[in-house]
Amino acid sequence: MTAPRSKGSAYMEWAKTRSQARFNLASSGVAELEAAELPFRLEDVELTGPSFYGYPPLQERLARKAGVEAECVVAATGTSMANYLALAAFLEPGDQALIEEPAYGPLVDAASYLGAEVRRFPRRAENSFAADPADVERALTPRTRAIVLSNLHNPSSALVENATLERIGDLARGVRARVIVDEVYLDALFERAPPSSFTLDPETFVVTSSLTKAYGLGGLRCGWVVADPASARRMWRLNDLFGVVPAHAAERLSILALDHLPKIAARAKALLDANRTTLQRFFDGRAELEVPRLQAGMIAFPRLRRGDVDALGAMLRDKYATTVVPGRFFGLSDHFRVSYGCLPATLAGGLEGLGAALDELR
Ligand SMILES: Cc1ncc(COP(=O)(O)O)c(C=O)c1O
Repeated sequence: MTAPRSKGSAYMEWAKTRSQARFNLASSGVAELEAAELPFRLEDVELTGPSFYGYPPLQERLARKAGVEAECVVAATGTSMANYLALAAFLEPGDQALIEEPAYGPLVDAASYLGAEVRRFPRRAENSFAADPADVERALTPRTRAIVLSNLHNPSSALVENATLERIGDLARGVRARVIVDEVYLDALFERAPPSSFTLDPETFVVTSSLTKAYGLGGLRCGWVVADPASARRMWRLNDLFGVVPAHAAERLSILALDHLPKIAARAKALLDANRTTLQRFFDGRAELEVPRLQAGMIAFPRLRRGDVDALGAMLRDKYATTVVPGRFFGLSDHFRVSYGCLPATLAGGLEGLGAALDELR
């Protein structure tokens, strides 16, 4: 029996209604930039503009950032809509989508909503959540049309090296499937970021991203897909059914942000580097947590060796005004996700609460 189509995201509903807290270690991006931190004048913003199949000045900047021609770029409302467009372009009802597990829930729900049969390949905790092409190969079938993974991985921040992606690309080509790589966290490697997987084979790899996570610019909703030109055109046509055209004022502000990206990136990198050191020190002193050494990104996914993660989450929220994401949203109920893109004082307060709650649960 096939599973019923998903009509929503349990994770997203939780994130919107339950994750807010004084010490919010559940939201996954870098602390939001405020408008006052962008050097913009009112003249830089307009309400209406020629945003049909992309506003040309924004298209040009996104293409330059991705190192591709503008015809490969589909602007989208966040990585969220970018993922939806990419999945919708390659999945027909009854096709198989092969998605990493654990995964960012909306990827799975969107594929299910499109009528795809969702299969999973494991990214194993005991292997630091690496993506293993052998696992992809085992789960692949002639009906697989999309292999979907995130890089860096949500929830673990594990990096998938391009050599591994090349092997996954070979497997995809063998069954005429695409590899959709959600690279929204890849920019958080900053100068260490490898070339986007799109460059490995533009006919196989389709990439999604946005300014949301690595730059603290979630409010702009500036996302995009990078795909071969024919697929990109299909996605623009699909978008005529959904967003049709974006808010032009947001496009203007996105241009401004892209023109100042090195400075915005420097702020984000400094914040993440300092917070990563703080969080690693905390993990080093907590034998009840098992977690790979922090290397990159802004989220970590520890395992609670003994005890109940939901009880921990409830105590954290009720007693310590702190939230983390319960691992059940990723299919691993003995894990939880901690975000460290927040301001240092928020991280310090949240870790104080987490330490106290872990002590009490002993
Ligand atoms: C892997 C992944 N993709 C996409 C998104 C959504 O990104 P955006 O805010 O750009 O829509 C998130 C947000 O948490 C995410 O973790």
